[in-house]
Amino acid sequence: MSAPAQPPVRITLGQRSYDILIGSGLLDDPSAWQGLPASADALIVSNTTVAPRYAQRLANQLERQHGRVLQLALPDGEQYKDWVHLNRVFDCLLGAACDRKTVLYALGGGVVGDMTGFAAACYMRGVPYVQVPTTLLAQVDSSVGGKTAVNHPLGKNMVGAFYQPLRVVCDLDLLSSLPPRELAAGLAEVIKYGPIADPALLAWLESHIDRLLARDPQALAHAVRRSCEIKAEVVGQDEREGGLRAILNFGHTFGHAIEAGLGFGAWLHGEAVACGMVIAAELSVRLGLAEPGLVPRLRNLLLRAGLPVQAPAWPLDKWLQLMQTDKKAEAGAIRYVLIDGLGRAVLRAAPEAEVGAAIRAHSA
Ligand code: NAD
Ligand code: GLY
Repeated sequence: MSAPAQPPVRITLGQRSYDILIGSGLLDDPSAWQGLPASADALIVSNTTVAPRYAQRLANQLERQHGRVLQLALPDGEQYKDWVHLNRVFDCLLGAACDRKTVLYALGGGVVGDMTGFAAACYMRGVPYVQVPTTLLAQVDSSVGGKTAVNHPLGKNMVGAFYQPLRVVCDLDLLSSLPPRELAAGLAEVIKYGPIADPALLAWLESHIDRLLARDPQALAHAVRRSCEIKAEVVGQDEREGGLRAILNFGHTFGHAIEAGLGFGAWLHGEAVACGMVIAAELSVRLGLAEPGLVPRLRNLLLRAGLPVQAPAWPLDKWLQLMQTDKKAEAGAIRYVLIDGLGRAVLRAAPEAEVGAAIRAHSA
């Protein structure tokens, strides 16, 4: 049974406000695309995995409102999220003489979404774009909130812009072709919202994780919707991460260190975040902020979702060095997102000894 149609989730950012549509069948539903600019040109940016499945169906809809619908399939993988491949978007746009009213459509996971958003921010100093996320991670996190970027050899997502889309269209049916490992990685980002913002979501996930893994449409619809609502609330208050928005990075400081230390791509981003959340929860307990029960609770849920909870056993120096490049670091001091009572998160520095103990408790 497909999930019933639901009202959109609104991101409230003044003139840059927009809707997140969530539902089944949206890719082929003309109403999901109505109201977007009817300019001469559109470019669907996707990748070589997603485009053959879904790009023509999107093009069929967009041909109603654009004279030309161009398509570009980038190679698939985090290793192509760089300047060289970003330039292929500009090559395509300039080669086809696309003007500044051209609308870009990001059809793919977080890699395509981040690259297309950044291309839109830069092309002719800014053209509109729409996010059409096709992974769970992208539907619950990366397509929402306007963070766009490419990687640099010296750091992940280090070159980018805050640039909001015109709309986000989350068609839950597209998740049916997602590999199980990618589904689990997306669940890590859903689980993240529980400890930082919503104890009820955490409890709901504990009782619905099997249905989510079985891709039950109604369970997926609830998980995507609640995640987007929480992210919309946070981004609406702190679009450019002056403070509050950093809570969305719970588990990411340790997670990014795992990704960088093992080499990007060895673990999926969501897998590294899962393990990072266990360490961050442990640190929160050690600093007297969270109840000890949080760690086994979170660990069990992540394990049930098929996610890793044990980090590589590296010396503390290596961890600290890897975490130093985190964007939340200030004047060289690493800052961690910590749980300050279930459903509330704070950003703060922590003594190295406690950080080391938290890592050791969850590494092997
Ligand atoms: P991804 O974009 O690499 O997609 C994962 C894999 O799934 C790819 O091989 C992709 O081709 C494939 N795929 C996508 N949709 C599919 C579908 N429907 N069916 C079958 N296969 C499909 O990875 P991701 O996990 O979606 O995103 C990770 C990226 O997102 C990272 O680069 C990360 O930095 C970024 N990110 C950004 C934000 C943000 O706020 N902008 C937040 C979180 C993560
Ligand atoms: N994924 C974290 C953020 O959007 O801020």
